[in-house]
Amino acid sequence: MTPIELHRANPAPADTSRYQVRPLDSGDYYHLQALEEQIWSGDASGKLCGYYLRLCTEMFSDWCFIAMDGDRPVGYVLNFPKGKVNYCATLAVHPDYQKTRVNYLLIRAMVRKLVVEQMEECRFLVEPDNHDARSVHAALGARVVAEVADYYHPGDRRLWSVINKDDMDRIRAKYARLQLVS
Ligand SMILES: CC(C)(COP(=O)(O)OP(=O)(O)OC[C@H]1O[C@@H](n2cnc3c(N)ncnc32)[C@H](O)[C@@H]1OP(=O)(O)O)[C@@H](O)C(=O)NCCC(=O)NCCS
Repeated sequence: MTPIELHRANPAPADTSRYQVRPLDSGDYYHLQALEEQIWSGDASGKLCGYYLRLCTEMFSDWCFIAMDGDRPVGYVLNFPKGKVNYCATLAVHPDYQKTRVNYLLIRAMVRKLVVEQMEECRFLVEPDNHDARSVHAALGARVVAEVADYYHPGDRRLWSVINKDDMDRIRAKYARLQLVS
């Protein structure tokens, strides 16, 4: 049987900006671990474990994106497609890089992927008081469709926010108009 090799990402397209956003490769496992520690260590739901991070770098590497400032990892977005529905599980930017172009570039990479793969829906799960995340989702046209209780632990309340098919069609047209997809 052929051995399974650790995944190497294709070279990222040329980007004239300071930041580079590209799909994950196997070496990003350690970048994700470091970012998880820096961004989520104070979060009650805890950091993502190694098994989850390896799932991202080995099985969903072309759906998950990392932002680099030179050699420094500064943000990431993790996506899990199921049929034509994408679940955006995490979008996170290091505090030093929030309110820069990093979040914009990560979202753009994710949305391009959704458009290229002709996805029909994108779902986010968000804490009701996470206003930064909710404003990002709202800017993309996502709407809250359901509330779930006791999600990660008893008492944990989350909102499902969804970009539906009509929104995806609108985004697709916008990205084509702006020539962000061929
Ligand atoms: C959520 C998070 C990634 C946002 O990053 P940020 O750098 O603070 O966000 P930005 O200022 O670039 O973007 C927010 C604004 O730009 C808009 N925006 C950014 N990129 C965009 C894009 N590509 N398309 C459309 N809108 C965009 C957002 O709608 C928002 O608009 P506002 O001015 O009305 O608030 C960041 O706060 C974070 O990492 N938080 C901790 C982790 C977390 O809670 N993640 C979310 C749950 S997984």
